Amino acid sequence: MAETRLHPAQLILPMFVREGAAESVPIGSMPGVVQHTLDSLRAEVARAAAAGIGGVMLFGVPEHKDAIGSGATDPDGILNVATRVAVAEAGDALVVQTDLCLDEFTDHGHCGVLDARGRVDNDASLARYRDMGLAQAEAGSAVLGLSGMMDGQVGAVRSALDSAGHPDTVLLGYAAKYASTFYGPFREAVQSSLQGDRRSYQLDPANRREGLREVLLDVDEGADVVMVKPAMSYLDVLADAAAASPVPVWAYQVSGEYAMVEAAAAHGWIERERAIDESLVSIARAGAEAILTYWAIEAAERWARS
Ligand code: PBG
Repeated sequence: MAETRLHPAQLILPMFVREGAAESVPIGSMPGVVQHTLDSLRAEVARAAAAGIGGVMLFGVPEHKDAIGSGATDPDGILNVATRVAVAEAGDALVVQTDLCLDEFTDHGHCGVLDARGRVDNDASLARYRDMGLAQAEAGSAVLGLSGMMDGQVGAVRSALDSAGHPDTVLLGYAAKYASTFYGPFREAVQSSLQGDRRSYQLDPANRREGLREVLLDVDEGADVVMVKPAMSYLDVLADAAAASPVPVWAYQVSGEYAMVEAAAAHGWIERERAIDESLVSIARAGAEAILTYWAIEAAERWARS
């Protein structure tokens, strides 16, 4: 009688790759998640393919950060190098996707470049995003996850890709991305030095209709898929998006959602595997066609055994 069923192909694993690392580095606030070396990335991509998940979403942790996030557009920057490594390992077995956001690469930690007064400059950031999108497409990323939340970002990257001969690169618009405290552990994962917060360009958690409005704007600009993020605290927004969107809707179960379950389970306060599965099936029930989750491989491997 189950109305909702999840298949491993609906799961996407976010992965962090650290530049210059000799060994993978555990992330304290995300037990079980690491910053990968290029070698451990290769091994984990092979495991992901064997588990039958749909894809991986790569994030870069650069050695050097600067005001404009130069590492993001450098073909030899860690994210672009990692993309080529992952694509070579994955073949056709899974879809290699990349986070298209400057925050991992800027020394101030914002998702855009700053103006003279220290505010995020939306339109100057769009120029950086065009170049970053091209660098990622050229490295072989099949899906660009536009998570920077600059206005006009989807349209700007789409036109840059189309005029450079990348019409098939898929754009995933992080349409309804809320200014959430549940991204906390992610900041450790990418060693972000964020000064201030992102409330001027991410959505107010109090706003439901605005989530839907952002979805429709991204679709208008050419998004092939739209995202709702975080997932568990935003299932209403997800249900709205799923009902109204003409393109697929995905959800991102973020670092803080992962950390909460892991921490409670480590104390013996919650049944870990049931909590994981219940959270994932709830996100699917609300309307997500695919889910980014740090449990992607574990869940897929466990479902295959049961
Ligand atoms: C931006 C980005 C963030 C996350 C994914 N992409 C952080 C932010 O917007 O502050 C968070 C993901 C997570 O918490 O798991 N590059």
